[in-house]
Amino acid sequence: MKFYLAPLEGITGYIYRNALHDFYGTGIDKYFMPFLAPHTKRSFNAKEKNDILPEHNKDLYAVPQILTNNVSDFLRIEKDLRALGYEEININLGCPSGTVVSKGRGAGFLAKKDELDAFLEEIFEKTEGKISLKTRIGVEEPEEFYELLEIYNQYPLEELIIHPRVQKELYQGKPHREIFHYARKYSKNPLCYNGDICSKEDYVNHIKEWKSEDDKEESLMDVSAVMLGRGVLKTPWLIKELAGDAFSEEKVMDKQKLLAFHDRLLSDYKSVMSGDKNVLFKMKELWMYLQFQFEDQEKAAKKIKKANSLIEYEAAVREMFSLQR
Ligand SMILES: Cc1cc2nc3c(=O)[nH]c(=O)nc-3n(C[C@H](O)[C@H](O)[C@H](O)COP(=O)(O)O)c2cc1C
Repeated sequence: MKFYLAPLEGITGYIYRNALHDFYGTGIDKYFMPFLAPHTKRSFNAKEKNDILPEHNKDLYAVPQILTNNVSDFLRIEKDLRALGYEEININLGCPSGTVVSKGRGAGFLAKKDELDAFLEEIFEKTEGKISLKTRIGVEEPEEFYELLEIYNQYPLEELIIHPRVQKELYQGKPHREIFHYARKYSKNPLCYNGDICSKEDYVNHIKEWKSEDDKEESLMDVSAVMLGRGVLKTPWLIKELAGDAFSEEKVMDKQKLLAFHDRLLSDYKSVMSGDKNVLFKMKELWMYLQFQFEDQEKAAKKIKKANSLIEYEAAVREMFSLQR
């Protein structure tokens, strides 16, 4: 099994990716980057440039992602990315946010199947490099996926990454496992599963389910990779733990190491961001997930959330780290 870090816009930028790689990177095969959306005048803004710079992605296999429904925008950005040395480019067909969907991009593109098909056809005609898709299963109803898969099956994808929810579900409810099973039955492209793998137990349950499907039915497409997002934010060593028993020492939280990981992120954000406010915003977002590593964390988590300065923030973090797991 291959393990991928999911793209998480605003969180898994190059600072996070590099810290994760250095502290808990064992077993992470690919780091998907948060989406790049085309701009009217220039290819990339300063933040995007920093994220894609090869020297900011040196020792890891990073996959840039493009969010667009426009072929010439795609080709323009793709060309720049290939020139920087990126082998694989991912297309975002999953972003559920209202502003993106209303422009017919991300998961919104899934509602326009003919246009999506024409978009992919032209892209595959005009590019030679590896292209993967990250898709939801529809906009309104899971059954929309049947037609979508027919479209995807026409193209030689590097892989098809499926988050089996529809756009309108956002992140709620349970992923539609039966639709992923349908993909295993009928996909002609390698498959990667994404969605709600937040613990070893979640992962093992999926593996068991896929094995039992294999026992019952012949010639199902292998699940060759899983992609994890929020689970890694909560437990940064989760992939390391899942990737094999050889790394079992990570099964119990190592507070010192987690603190060092935190301090590295804090110091790297401080070095590139101006003003406490921006740094605080980044770190607080992370704690929305990380806090669950600690027992009875509510009080300290509240202090972190309310911190108005880095001094207050660091005191609250020290309090958090004094708690038991
Ligand atoms: C804060 C946040 C930002 C996200 N940004 C992106 C993005 O830039 N591109 C993308 O394809 N998906 C994005 N996603 C979706 C995730 O990559 C992933 O598909 C989703 O969280 C389900 O996986 P998980 O349950 O392992 O987190 C984002 C999700 C969240 C919560």
